[in-house]
Amino acid sequence: EHNSHAIEQELTVLVPVEGGGGPPIKLQRLRMKNDSSRPRRLSVTTYAEWALGESREATEMHVVSTWDDEAQVLLARNRYHPEYGDRVAFAAINRPVDSFSADRTSFLGRNRTLANPAALERVALSGRTGAGLDPCAALRTAFELAPGETAEVVCLLGQAESSDQAQALVKAFAESTAFEIAFDRTKAWWDETLGAVEVHTPELSVDFLVNRWLLYQVLSCRVWGRTGVYQSGGAFGFRDQLQDVLALLHARPEVAREHILLAASRQFREGDVQHWWHPPSGAGTRTRISDDLLWLPYAVAQYVRHTGDLSILGEQVPFLDAPLLTDEQHDAYLTPQAGGERVSVLEHCQRAVRRGLTRGPHGLPLIGTGDWNDGMDQVGAQGRGESVWLAWFLVDVLDGMADLSGRTGVPEAAEAYRMERLALIDRIEASAWDGAWYLRARFDDGTPVGSAASEEAKIDLLPQAWATLSGGGDPGRAAMALESAVERLVRPDERLVLLFDPPFDRTTPSPGYIRGYPPGVRENGGQYTHAAVWLAAALARRGQGTRAADVLRMLNPIERAREVDSVWRYTVEPYVISADVYRAPGRVGQGGWSWYTGSAAWMYRAWVEELLGLHVCGDSLRLDPVIPGWWSGFRLTYRRGEALYEIQVDN
Ligand code: GLC
Repeated sequence: EHNSHAIEQELTVLVPVEGGGGPPIKLQRLRMKNDSSRPRRLSVTTYAEWALGESREATEMHVVSTWDDEAQVLLARNRYHPEYGDRVAFAAINRPVDSFSADRTSFLGRNRTLANPAALERVALSGRTGAGLDPCAALRTAFELAPGETAEVVCLLGQAESSDQAQALVKAFAESTAFEIAFDRTKAWWDETLGAVEVHTPELSVDFLVNRWLLYQVLSCRVWGRTGVYQSGGAFGFRDQLQDVLALLHARPEVAREHILLAASRQFREGDVQHWWHPPSGAGTRTRISDDLLWLPYAVAQYVRHTGDLSILGEQVPFLDAPLLTDEQHDAYLTPQAGGERVSVLEHCQRAVRRGLTRGPHGLPLIGTGDWNDGMDQVGAQGRGESVWLAWFLVDVLDGMADLSGRTGVPEAAEAYRMERLALIDRIEASAWDGAWYLRARFDDGTPVGSAASEEAKIDLLPQAWATLSGGGDPGRAAMALESAVERLVRPDERLVLLFDPPFDRTTPSPGYIRGYPPGVRENGGQYTHAAVWLAAALARRGQGTRAADVLRMLNPIERAREVDSVWRYTVEPYVISADVYRAPGRVGQGGWSWYTGSAAWMYRAWVEELLGLHVCGDSLRLDPVIPGWWSGFRLTYRRGEALYEIQVDN
């Protein structure tokens, strides 16, 4: 009896975690109770679609499915897959299966969808498996429930190294207690991880994010899955996960360490890096994007400052070997080989900085085919355009390198980095101040981007925030730049914090593919949450806790779920951060690209480090809160090894 009202149901979905990535398996437990006074006959059908090829077509052409009757498991393989041809995907139920199907077309029926599949009107599934199908995995089990009786169905979906391993997993989860054990273990793992820092503030929506959701988003989606509805990726972005893992320094520093070593191994001998790459083959792109390589020294400096773990600097990691880009090439997709030469992580960082310290006509670093803002790929494509944001970022990176050099006992190198930093700051102040804020960049022909005199994108958030975050901006100017950003880019009426304003529409020369987004969408002058968090962090650095929290509150997805109206406008999940929120006419306040965004990590750091002020530096702990004036205070527990610190702050 499909959807019978007499049946009480409870569904639990679980991806077990065992010390990290966990087995590649997903479990769903359905618990049913017959609440009526007569027996009920029930059937449960589980359905999944495979994506086992590089495209839908490849999946259809190459997937071969089989039913293993003894083990009661439906298996599927794509032998043609270049990397996963040996692996087996599987689906199973922990009860006798009365029918199954690997044929999506017959399951759905002609002109029908998953809302009303034809198979649910038939007494059994088709039993078709094999090659050449539009493949799926559907399994059905049927049974009777006496009045008051309960039943449990556990569905498994996963992939394994072999059919044997798949069978073993299915067998293990056939035990009635197996789900419970995996569930408890998984909950305990997350509790321990997410419980490293626990806060109680006057704003419950902040506690929810900081204590649970932000780090969950970072680890499960950004670091492990690297995929979302909007981008079914799987690749590592060089700059992306290096930022993400810095939010894990309290909870899982070993994840950060491991990722830093991985990232270092994606650096070419010449110092530049893969913009993104796909494990396990390592295929990815070599580009002229200018900031990627600098995120390595940035992350290493932060990691070492926090953990005090100098040993990472001495780890030996190989470079990649690949042909250089030709003068005509902006990028190339290739599968580079790990070269023979292994050098220390410190040297990887030094090479990145040496390569990243370029100089354009005003002495600022070249923007190349994009910096943090990927879409500005034409600003400096001819090799002369400069980036002011990148200059501020370099100021921060040079500071980190000076610190690392000092810690490793090379004071001359530390001094050289410090001098370089000061000289760069001078060049920025001499060429990038626009009167009330800093420019964003200069085109190849010298035309400024982000100037009061520009027709579009008159002011951009990035250089204003980073003049403060880098600690390098002239204090008076940096403060004024932040004021200008707040005044022109923060829109309390629309609850948006814009990346720049007004959006690009007709500007010539074109800044790049960013102009392809409708004005007010994504990087083109909508709310780009990643950058908006930087504004909040910068306000906190200037001691403005109330304003910093006001900005963060605007970005808090839970706050968007308070009124029915804004829920409908926002349309995406209220418990994870979205990369962007639209400002396009008719769609103001609509969320886009949720889950898979680097802003979750930065929001966590903004709250924990900048506002609540928890700073860990090796063996010392410093508390330097910058909180809203109206807060009565907050409580924070911090766990490190066996020690538990309970901190109470009264305002
Ligand atoms: C996307 C990219 C990120 C980039 C940002 C801004 O989130 O993954 O690397 O910095 O967009 O363009």
